[in-house]
Amino acid sequence: MAELATREREPAEILAFYAKAGTEALTGRARELCLERHGRRILLRGLIEYSNRCACDCLYCGIRRSNARVYRYRLEPEEIAALARKGYAAGLRSFVLQGGEDPAYAEAALPRAVEMIRESCPEAAITLSAGILDRAAYGRLKLVGADRYLLRFETSDPELHRSLRGGVGLGRRLEALVDLADLGYQVGSGYMVGLPGETEETRVDNALLCRELRLDMVGIGPFIPHGDTPLAGSPQSPIELTLRAAALVRLLLPDAHMPATTAAGSLDPEGREKMILAGANVLMPNITPPSAKRNYLLYPGKICLDEEGETCIGCLSLRMKTIGREISFDRGDAPRLGGQAKVGAGTDLDHEAAVPAAAPSSVPLAQAASSSVPAKEGAHA
Ligand code: 5AD
Ligand code: FES
Repeated sequence: MAELATREREPAEILAFYAKAGTEALTGRARELCLERHGRRILLRGLIEYSNRCACDCLYCGIRRSNARVYRYRLEPEEIAALARKGYAAGLRSFVLQGGEDPAYAEAALPRAVEMIRESCPEAAITLSAGILDRAAYGRLKLVGADRYLLRFETSDPELHRSLRGGVGLGRRLEALVDLADLGYQVGSGYMVGLPGETEETRVDNALLCRELRLDMVGIGPFIPHGDTPLAGSPQSPIELTLRAAALVRLLLPDAHMPATTAAGSLDPEGREKMILAGANVLMPNITPPSAKRNYLLYPGKICLDEEGETCIGCLSLRMKTIGREISFDRGDAPRLGGQAKVGAGTDLDHEAAVPAAAPSSVPLAQAASSSVPAKEGAHA
């Protein structure tokens, strides 16, 4: 859009454009900005779904504690590391270890898995997505070699958040994000689009919270109702809402790494391509063995359940060609690090991990945690 040129814009100006622009114009502008900042190459992150045990009972989630129909599994640290090694041999240099909220496992097995991956895949970035843990546990995981952490805030509406997350408040979530930034992690968060009870105002606030948190990574996907949850029968929002959300986040956070999510690809056969054309620049091939990932059904209709990781990487490469993009095996660190992220364990960030000083990125996070959360949500929820 000519009237919204590529220089940095104020949020108010971006929001005004978002409110009046049709989806084509909005996503076109976000795509242009993404190409300018990140180029044509789409970063790959190999996803390992290491455990579907979860202590939480979030109303939206298929692997919630109360869903007795789920066959529960945990991969051993050796298995997790073997999957990463296989991915590394295939060229991947960025891995995401994701599991349900399982603090005992996250504190015992996960550090061993991280250590092993750090050892055998020295150039790889290791990202964790293991839910809310205490600060000391985050610190230990950082010390053994984790680089990044993903923890979506899910929705920025405090009441909706609490009601969907079994009474756990948004304030506690934001506190965890502050801890992670203080410890020197590259931090990702994000939200679902189309949750029951969400409004257009919520969606705008979600995107603004991402900016306020100065996130390095933002994951957005459509909420897809799961039949074995209390939200079964909720209406499915159209993919367009997610595309508009992705475009808005791209305009507000030009440097953020943003995946074209599997949920988008599950809702719409071309959902991931559409997200990339709306400003996303990352893809996450699922390298979990089919025998395990079949049981990691956060939502129904999830794609790639029968495919091995190599198949997905090949598939994604072809899919990207159809939209004039290509896959990249780079680590894809946050641009704010200016290519300075250290490779391998024992980075000098470890000192920050041991002595949680205020890293520069922690300042906006801390401010956001205190400014965007109503007082009643502020402390431990
Ligand atoms: N539909 C879409 N996304 C979901 N997630 C959890 N349940 C669902 C669902 N029913 C998302 C949450 C979580 C991420 C791992 O998956 O945002 O953070
Ligand atoms: Fe998994 Fe296409 S990306 S089969």
